[in-house]
Amino acid sequence: MSITLKTESNHINPLQELLVEELRDLLHAEGQLVAALPKMAEAAHHPKLQEAFLKHLQQTEGHIERLKTAFELLGEKAQPKPCKAMMGLVEEGQETIKEGREKQEIAADLGLIAAAQRVEHYEISAYGTARSLARQIGERDVATLLAYTLGEEESSDYVLTELAKPLMQQASSEGAGAESKTARPRKQKA
Ligand SMILES: [Fe+2]
Ligand SMILES: [Fe+2]
Repeated sequence: MSITLKTESNHINPLQELLVEELRDLLHAEGQLVAALPKMAEAAHHPKLQEAFLKHLQQTEGHIERLKTAFELLGEKAQPKPCKAMMGLVEEGQETIKEGREKQEIAADLGLIAAAQRVEHYEISAYGTARSLARQIGERDVATLLAYTLGEEESSDYVLTELAKPLMQQASSEGAGAESKTARPRKQKA
């Protein structure tokens, strides 16, 4: 059972207030991602990348549900607070999609991975903080929910890193091939 700590002036515990603010920010951030991830999936060329985006879309819907449960547990309204950082990251993601149309498939996919990992790192940071705050005020159930989501953000980040590796190798070997075709003939050794 959780206890809502009150300060002497009968105000809510400042750490709980901070936690609620963090969760409101995250609720808005996750909402934006539900709209952005299908566009990322559509833009992805590699089927595994497309699959990763669609899987994370499903997880993201679950993240919103967990946040709503966390608000309930804290006795607070699930009211989103505009997350300007995620607005910027999503905008950059859209730019990456647009720019990718002019690029080769592998380079376009690597651009999408880079944009998506920026998002995951933001979420990892935010969920890490929120989980610590929940633990600190003794909201163990809330902390557990946030830890589940944090784990999914971390594994999504890992999957993206693993997907990028062979794409980078392929791009660099193809690049080396293209370079040798266009390279100026070297002086022959005597
Ligand atoms: Fe998320
Ligand atoms: Fe995520």
